[in-house]
Amino acid sequence: MKNKDYLMPDLKLEKKRSLKKDNATNYRDFQMSLEANRLGQDKKYFVKTYGCQANVRDGESLSGMLEMMGFTYAEVPEKANVILFNTCAIRRAAEEKVIAEIGNLKYLKREKPDTIFALCGCMAQEKDVVEELLQKHPQIDLIFGTHNLYRFPSLLQEVMLKKIQKVEVYSQEGEVVEALPVKRSMSAKGFVNIMYGCDKFCTYCIVPYTRGKERSRRMKDILDEVLDLKQSGRKEVVLLGQNVNAYGKDLHMEDGFTDLLRAVSDTGIERIRFYTSHPRDYHSSLIDLMAERKNIMPFLHFPVQSGSNDVLRRMARGYTVEHYISLYNEMIQKVPNITFTTDIIVGFPGESEADFEKTMSLVEHCQYDMAYTFLYSARLGTPAASMPDFISKEVKKERLQRLNQRLRDIAAEKNKTYLHKVVKVLCEGASKKNNEMYAGYTEDNKLVNFSCSWNCLDEIVDVEITETHSYTLNGRVLEK
Ligand code: 5AD
Ligand code: SF4
Repeated sequence: MKNKDYLMPDLKLEKKRSLKKDNATNYRDFQMSLEANRLGQDKKYFVKTYGCQANVRDGESLSGMLEMMGFTYAEVPEKANVILFNTCAIRRAAEEKVIAEIGNLKYLKREKPDTIFALCGCMAQEKDVVEELLQKHPQIDLIFGTHNLYRFPSLLQEVMLKKIQKVEVYSQEGEVVEALPVKRSMSAKGFVNIMYGCDKFCTYCIVPYTRGKERSRRMKDILDEVLDLKQSGRKEVVLLGQNVNAYGKDLHMEDGFTDLLRAVSDTGIERIRFYTSHPRDYHSSLIDLMAERKNIMPFLHFPVQSGSNDVLRRMARGYTVEHYISLYNEMIQKVPNITFTTDIIVGFPGESEADFEKTMSLVEHCQYDMAYTFLYSARLGTPAASMPDFISKEVKKERLQRLNQRLRDIAAEKNKTYLHKVVKVLCEGASKKNNEMYAGYTEDNKLVNFSCSWNCLDEIVDVEITETHSYTLNGRVLEK
């Protein structure tokens, strides 16, 4: 048995928000010790990322740190000396996937006992889950959390040299650490964090606990990253935050996100998108700016969660359906070519048939281009987890199916209007369906699989749509 060194997460501390007004965010630059620099000589790494784009961006920094330590990339976990699971905790199903995957790879540890198994991300911030992981998979060498990502090289060094099992999870956010190394996963576009954490505490959601309070990055650091991406030839930036509309609140900015977006647009990068917009912190100025600037894409991911005011109130979303619809109508009016996607939770505790029907009506009104739909999953420690819930799993599943069917039909109808149109697509690489074709997104975020007679990777090309499906389009590039 290895020696253990544990600093476990604590939900009560994770929930805490400082009441002090002047509790300003502190910033500092990443540094790595010289010893860690040589740790990866002749060794390989494999990072498996689960969950949202914030995790994808974290994965890019984790890979960046590993390469800075001298590790090289392994295409499969079987060839790696360090295997890192960068995890998601949003629903139990996401966690179960990770737990099963670690189990599937256990044999590697038996074959090569020096292989390091490390786990980070949102699952690491949940005490009960960390305990479950250690009990089911005692072969894990290192667990670290979302607030000490930058400590990865030092932690890995300790685990490799001292041969201990280490858990180091901070329950409260510290400084925002800048200048982390990064190995970008895409050459066409780049992800840029603009803020971390969430203060909304929707009653079903674990994110405010696992990611801590809202902290904005300084505008200059964000703009430098965008300019870097532009200089490297990338055509698109994706600005990330749990709730981008709250950007700059902690920096005492009045209308921070609109100001930031204007400055990003001024850099001249060809395409800008952002995730995720919360209806609560919305400013009209944002949509005016979207209408005015060609390089801000006419697309909005605008999570509604439910079409029932009663459910929204119990979710503590902070808006009514009527308010959501008025924002939606304003956007359609000011940016007529805008497309929308949303998130919907089905089967929230106490959701009645009438509540669900209201969600169906909302979907009818908003005619979403796509929606991410989820069965409610109870998260330990969140208020909704202790709300009474009498609806059976079967009823919930049947509702989800009904909703998905209607969403698919709406999406298929909308996509039919693209037939024979010529759209601008940023080519991101080979199509997943057919690797003789390319894939990329239109300005309004439609996924297009298309043929092209030259290698158009990273180019924005004119594609004629030849076939439409519910959630994808097919086409061919017009010759130059
Ligand atoms: N159960 C189901 N879905 C959830 N989401 C967040 N928490 C839960 C939960 N406990 C969904 C919300 C959110 C998206 C990222 O995940 O719809 O917008
Ligand atoms: Fe979760 Fe709500 Fe914050 Fe989104 S806004 S991360 S759903 S608490």
